[in-house]
Amino acid sequence: MERSEMLKSLSHDHHQALRVCQLMRRCDVQNASETRDAFVRFWQPHQIHIRIEEDVLFPKFAEFGGADHPMIERALAEHTDDGALARQVIESAEPPVETMHELAERLHDHVRFEERELFPEIERTVPESERAALLAALAHAETRADWQPGRQH
Ligand SMILES: [Fe+2]
Ligand SMILES: [Fe+2]
Repeated sequence: MERSEMLKSLSHDHHQALRVCQLMRRCDVQNASETRDAFVRFWQPHQIHIRIEEDVLFPKFAEFGGADHPMIERALAEHTDDGALARQVIESAEPPVETMHELAERLHDHVRFEERELFPEIERTVPESERAALLAALAHAETRADWQPGRQH
């Protein structure tokens, strides 16, 4: 399905995420540490993607779809759980291959869920009259210096 203009940039991030998942799925003991490094390079800047979803996109969707929408609850729970597993990988110089395989599966499933279920639901639910403002808010969030990784602490 053609992605709407307002969600294109986030979808682009998802493609990058899937590429990293593919690397991690294939990783073995020989390349575990370089795969971990590639994941770290992806994950740090990816924090802004998660923040944009949680602080801009999901609240706008909640205005029309309901704050307790099960898809939002699922996405937030996965952000928390996948984030915890990602931290394990990042904090270990040589994380176990099984942990990276599990992270790859979880992240892959999360991205597929957002692309195939949540984003289409958002596109159906957010009214036409709200879309330009949402697109502007998403674009603005991407450039916020205080949301850039490394400046959050
Ligand atoms: Fe997400
Ligand atoms: Fe996402």
